[in-house]
Amino acid sequence: MAQQKISLTRYLVEQQRADGLIPGQLRLLLEVVARACKSISQAVNKGALGGVLGTAESENVQGEIQKKLDIIANEVLIEANEWGGHLAAMASEEMDSIYVVPNRYPQGEYLLMFDPLDGSSNIDVNVSIGTIFSVLKKPDEHPGVQESDFLQPGTQQVAAGYCIYGPQTTLVLTVGNGVAMFTLDREQGSFVLTQEDIQIPVDTKEFAINMSNMRHWDEPMKRYIDECLAGKEGPRGKDFNMRWIASMVADVHRILMRGGVFMYPWDKREPEKAGKLRLMYEANPMSWLVEQAGGAATNGKQRILDLKPTKLHERVSVMLGSRNEVERLTQYHAEKA
Ligand code: AHG
Ligand code: MN
Ligand code: MN
Repeated sequence: MAQQKISLTRYLVEQQRADGLIPGQLRLLLEVVARACKSISQAVNKGALGGVLGTAESENVQGEIQKKLDIIANEVLIEANEWGGHLAAMASEEMDSIYVVPNRYPQGEYLLMFDPLDGSSNIDVNVSIGTIFSVLKKPDEHPGVQESDFLQPGTQQVAAGYCIYGPQTTLVLTVGNGVAMFTLDREQGSFVLTQEDIQIPVDTKEFAINMSNMRHWDEPMKRYIDECLAGKEGPRGKDFNMRWIASMVADVHRILMRGGVFMYPWDKREPEKAGKLRLMYEANPMSWLVEQAGGAATNGKQRILDLKPTKLHERVSVMLGSRNEVERLTQYHAEKA
């Protein structure tokens, strides 16, 4: 008999049975997010034919010009998730404040955060982009829901993942029991389990950083990259390779598949900003996935998952991936301090 394919639905049901890691509401939530990602994937695929490329005439709360697909992806996620009874509220890169589930629908116990489309600069040039999401439980201290309910450290996540729209559409997920990957089977219209228990090699010869910002970096960051660039003749004694896709999803996906280290550090361009990437819906979910795959994630000084957020759109310095490289980065930052 041919080996049976395991769909996302079956995977979730089995996880629910085996480890009790996925209560019914969370399972529904993950299925709904996956369904939304399927329709975002369709829109992304159509590209110019669907009239979805280009810039919208708006800015988001972070002062970034929105692309049409940023807005479409945001709407798809909200519409898919608001009526199921599994959520209390949502928050997104593309919305100033939280979106409370309208009271015509039942209120659930979860909070969903997302970057509806990561890698906006790559949309129009047909390079991989993706959706990143993070799920928290609403604290039950008080009725209703408010922004402060979202401000929990990444260690409190109950599920996290991303869907990458590349040559394949791949959903990558953790519920705290390792990392699993599902590939979208377009004929069947379902996500099929294609890899389980993903492990990031502890060592690597590959790094990802936007080198054009080098002159703005802090000293430990410069030191780390200088040593990589020095190659075999330098203190590291090996040659390094560099990759920068400019979509965090795509760079992190590569790291989950073959190791590497990804960095978007604080820099002097806007010193008051902790970094470019957002803690709650970019750094936290990616850090948890990476840790679940045996890697590490830090802001240079602290484990990202331990940071206590102070606001929804908080930014953070990010270094994540192969464990020994992340430890070296932490050590260089500590030596300077
Ligand atoms: P977004 O498109 O959601 O705003 O995020 C883009 C982020 C991240 O995906 C990527 O790693 C980084 O910005 C790229 O920044 P540069 O343009 O500075 O390379
Ligand atoms: Mn992003
Ligand atoms: Mn985005």
